[in-house]
Amino acid sequence: NTSSTSQSTQAQCPFSGAGSNAPAGYPVSPRAAQFDPFEDAYQQDPPEYVKWSREEEPVFFSPKLGYWVVTRYEDIKQIFRDNITFSPSIALEKITPTGPEANAVLESYNYGMSRTLVNEDEPAHMPRRRLLMEPFTVDALKHHEPMVRQLTRQYVDQFVNDGKADLVEQMLWEVPLTVALHFLGVPEEDMDTLRKYSIAHTVNTWGRPKPEEQVAVAHAVGNFWQLAGQILEKMRKNPEQPGWMQYGIRMQQTNPEVVTDSYLHSMMMAGIVAAHETTANASANAIKLLLSHPHVWQEICEDPSLIPNAVEECLRHNGSVAAWRRLATRDVQIGGVDIAAGSKLLIVSSSANHDERHFADADLLDIRRENASDQLTFGYGSHQCMGKNLARMEMQIFLEELTLRLPHLRLSEQTFTYVPNTSFRGPEHLWVHWDPSENPERHNPAILGKQHPVRLGEPSTHSLSRQVVVQETEMLTDDIMRIRLAAADGQTLPRWTPGSHIDLVCGDLGISRQYSLCGDPTNPQVLEIAVLREDAGRGGSAWVHQHIRSGLPLHIRGPRNHFHFDEQTKKAILIAGGIGITPISAMARAARARGMDYQIHYCGRSRKSMALLASLQEHGDRLHVYPADEGRRADFASLLAAPDADTQIYACGPQRLTDCLQKICESWPDDALHIEHFHSTLGKLDPGKEHAFEAELKQTGMTVTVAADQTLLEALRAANIDIQSDCEEGLCGSCEVSVLAGQPDHRDVVLTRSERIAGNKMMSCCSRAIDQRIVLDL
Ligand code: FES
Repeated sequence: NTSSTSQSTQAQCPFSGAGSNAPAGYPVSPRAAQFDPFEDAYQQDPPEYVKWSREEEPVFFSPKLGYWVVTRYEDIKQIFRDNITFSPSIALEKITPTGPEANAVLESYNYGMSRTLVNEDEPAHMPRRRLLMEPFTVDALKHHEPMVRQLTRQYVDQFVNDGKADLVEQMLWEVPLTVALHFLGVPEEDMDTLRKYSIAHTVNTWGRPKPEEQVAVAHAVGNFWQLAGQILEKMRKNPEQPGWMQYGIRMQQTNPEVVTDSYLHSMMMAGIVAAHETTANASANAIKLLLSHPHVWQEICEDPSLIPNAVEECLRHNGSVAAWRRLATRDVQIGGVDIAAGSKLLIVSSSANHDERHFADADLLDIRRENASDQLTFGYGSHQCMGKNLARMEMQIFLEELTLRLPHLRLSEQTFTYVPNTSFRGPEHLWVHWDPSENPERHNPAILGKQHPVRLGEPSTHSLSRQVVVQETEMLTDDIMRIRLAAADGQTLPRWTPGSHIDLVCGDLGISRQYSLCGDPTNPQVLEIAVLREDAGRGGSAWVHQHIRSGLPLHIRGPRNHFHFDEQTKKAILIAGGIGITPISAMARAARARGMDYQIHYCGRSRKSMALLASLQEHGDRLHVYPADEGRRADFASLLAAPDADTQIYACGPQRLTDCLQKICESWPDDALHIEHFHSTLGKLDPGKEHAFEAELKQTGMTVTVAADQTLLEALRAANIDIQSDCEEGLCGSCEVSVLAGQPDHRDVVLTRSERIAGNKMMSCCSRAIDQRIVLDL
């Protein structure tokens, strides 16, 4: 009976300015003084409520709460990353200490919620997490999928012909609760009782119950505690039964000092809440968000392959965990603000998820967002939510079932209410309506047989396409066509940065080709590419030239950027050969807009064959053109003879040009030359030539074996570690992991020479270990 109860006995006024931890002399701004996470405005939209903070005061002290509040993405990720400096021990502490009467009630039930996984410090936490992780891995979760599907179908069956429903009441609470009970191995108890109890637990821990409510809440929490104990005792009699709690009981038999009695009892109660309430809320938030954007709902109805990333984007945009708490264990700086040891922190992860510094157009719901899975709703690092992939699976199945059976679902007029608390957030009711006579299954019962494979684990944006329409085409030269693309639905297109490309799907040829964007990145209405017809090519450009006409609908993927242009650089030398001018022209435009010192060197066969020459004239004498038929050759050896630390070189063109530049630039700082790579030189992984190795994950405390026929990325994902990826060919750098020991065998084209030699990072999608073992900072 430790943290919560001992907290509850402290008679500290919640509005006292944090008592002993109040920062002496720290100036509290008027907005910081007003901050109150129990206000309706916070409940309705936490990221919007603290938008001012993200922009002006990303770390501030809240006198009303007695906590430091942190709102920016990088600061919060850093806090999650360092669980020694920022202890999770207060994560389940009552944010509003209860009065003596409620405390007495809790004591009468022997209430003893103690350390679970969420609030355990090291060194106890990692060994326990390691021991209990197995049932959460992607492989172990697979066999729950049919049960989740069947349950979801049964619940939708009950209201599909009604024309209206409160989805929270009629589905989104009970299905996750039943799944949670199955997963935990709990026999199906009275759901209403458990539901009431788990709400009480939320209010007790993260809410601000009024004094008169505290006693009733305490009774419910006490009863919940006792019920959890009884269920656990029942389980101990049959520890061989399936379920995570039984798994824990079995682990206790061999590791009693790691999996203690107190842990099991606390986890039994906390687990019910953690496993179902967060998912129920996240699902309600997601459906509400999608239905408020009818065109997006329509898109996922028409193309269910968009659902996994839509789930991720909803978790980012409107997740169910608004904020977490940490305790500073030493004097430390966060975002330049001095925080004293012993200070309590409210880290508003939902605000981090709307931080423009990390998510472009952060308030926009973009279900194709490339980095949606960087969201911090599941936390990050060693305390990241273990059940994240179970939650993702449930949310995908809910959306799949609803979009299949009720694509004509509409959000009803209503006022949304939330249980006031700092952390867990979802509407208490979600009313929707539809016309049952339009239910697709009435006209075509066969649709009920349709099923899309659930994507277990982090979604991939790799296969997501977006429909666009050709707005205009123009022949720039005899064999280069400029194509302007607009969003098919009249919406805006995603923002892009110079160096970005799109994948264009070539009709039903089954192929796609990458083309650099060459238009104006600030114009959200149009994407522009220029395509050279290569008769000796593999058919993509011939298809483009033959088929693309204005008005034609097309599918694209991206934009993605593997050829970043550093707009802060002092001087840029931009080199293009032939059609390589496309990304270079976008960089030149950005350099000009920034007032940068830059030069463009553009080589080609003849002026007639060189695209965009007319528009490049705006660069005046910064533009140097080298048409071969005029006998003009670029002398790159002289141009680049003297290395300059302030200059960056960007090159795109035929391989003989880029090979030559690479040679010339050998004496330059090794990250000065940037080359656009469209193709990887990596072959397919050949298990006959590879060896297996072990990756030790320092932060997570696990060791992962990477088989000879597996990439490091695949092995990490199979162990439930989320790693971003994009190209999966060693081209883009998004799957980078930090190496603490051991030598990487680099196979990417992203890292510079000195980065390879330093050996402290590697691309997990392709690079391996030279020896049998490598230690990663994960
Ligand atoms: Fe692109 Fe690994 S995913 S380098």
